[in-house]
Amino acid sequence: MSSLLLARNGRRAISVIGGGRRGTDALSGVHPVTRRFIIDMSYSAHFMDFKGSSIPSTMKKLVVTKLSPNFREAVSMQTVTVPTPGDADLLVRNRYVGINASDINFSAGRYDPSLKPPFDAGFEGIGEVVGLGLSASSRYTIGDIVAYFGSGAFAEYTVVPAKESVPVPAVKPEFLTLLVSGATAYIALKRLGDLAEGETVLVTAAAGGTGQFAVQFAKQAGCHVIGTCSSNEKAGFLKSLGCNRPINYTSEDLAKTLKKEYPKGIDVVYESVGGSVLELAVNRLANKGRLIVIGFISGYQTASGIPPFTGGTLPVKLLQKSASIRGFFLPHFLSDYREALGSMMQMFAKGKLVCEVDCGDLAQGGRFVGLESVFRAVDYMYAGKNLGKVVVEVAPPSVSNSKL
Ligand SMILES: NC(=O)c1ccc[n+]([C@@H]2O[C@H](COP(=O)([O-])OP(=O)(O)OC[C@H]3O[C@@H](n4cnc5c(N)ncnc54)[C@H](OP(=O)(O)O)[C@@H]3O)[C@@H](O)[C@H]2O)c1
Repeated sequence: MSSLLLARNGRRAISVIGGGRRGTDALSGVHPVTRRFIIDMSYSAHFMDFKGSSIPSTMKKLVVTKLSPNFREAVSMQTVTVPTPGDADLLVRNRYVGINASDINFSAGRYDPSLKPPFDAGFEGIGEVVGLGLSASSRYTIGDIVAYFGSGAFAEYTVVPAKESVPVPAVKPEFLTLLVSGATAYIALKRLGDLAEGETVLVTAAAGGTGQFAVQFAKQAGCHVIGTCSSNEKAGFLKSLGCNRPINYTSEDLAKTLKKEYPKGIDVVYESVGGSVLELAVNRLANKGRLIVIGFISGYQTASGIPPFTGGTLPVKLLQKSASIRGFFLPHFLSDYREALGSMMQMFAKGKLVCEVDCGDLAQGGRFVGLESVFRAVDYMYAGKNLGKVVVEVAPPSVSNSKL
């Protein structure tokens, strides 16, 4: 996601001269144009819904103050002035924010080594437009509900470029599951999976944020789907999605089960775990099999970020099976993004796509409510407890807006 975020920051930086605080952070070395500064201040005040939304003067946000894959060590809560949107921006009062496995890669500075702390954390949010710039007002108005992904989502209010916001009909956390997790599964399988009816697909971390979508899209393509997970409850959830063979690897040996039940091998692997799971999946690839590297979460908490992998015999293994390993990184497929999102929104509206959200209702300490819950939510994901997409409810519904 890094390059996308950087590109977005870069573009935002230009559009928020004179307004957005986040733009100022991203803009060190770029000189604001005085004329626009004056214009922005006048109209942004005009379009701020101070009364209706009760915008306070200060807010809380999470800031990476030290590079570390230990999220609690890296990130701290700060109280800052609520930012003002620039000409083409929206000020969004975040209602829900999404947790991603890569939040700790970002806090470790792995996405962009040139990015030095302090910088804002969080990739995606959904909420209500409470302020906007003049040109943004041609497409949005106060009270609209938007979803977005971009840096700085772990905040009570976030400035978001209007053209990168997605209007959504309601502030449901389910929409948040589509921005990164759903889009990754949709585009990766479409572009790199080459799925054919009747093929066998293995999804690792299948009951998580992106895994749940990979299972469903592979089923929609007429494939036989195997999904790995760490509990019987998750296995039951996978069954409910249509997964043919959930494997709870804490009670069944994954390697033995795959070898015994799928002697011809696996055609496509949607692989998120890395290390020994990646090795095992490579070994089980069928002739002409395709393994898509989605992530390697088993290494993210380590200093290097990369789990051990013995790749010495890889060329032989791939050659002998005419198999391939393909990497996927969402920012490289942005030309597919709009279509993917539109298609998933339609499926969800028609009841053809489950977007499972886990707000931590069963977590120790209870539901993830308030920005400070982001820390607990990250721990919860890394303990493998989540079923579906981990989401934090940042703020209660706004009383002034019926759509909430
Ligand atoms: N390439 C891209 O553009 C892209 C975009 C989005 C996400 N991703 C990747 O997709 C993967 C899943 O991300 P997500 O945000 O959707 O998370 P998630 O799947 O909602 O949560 C992570 C899950 O991974 C499983 N897991 C397996 N081994 C683990 C370990 N050693 N430590 C912690 N968890 C482990 C756990 O499920 P079980 O306990 O059931 O195994 C856990 O619930 C990550 O690798 C992430 O980097 C990649």
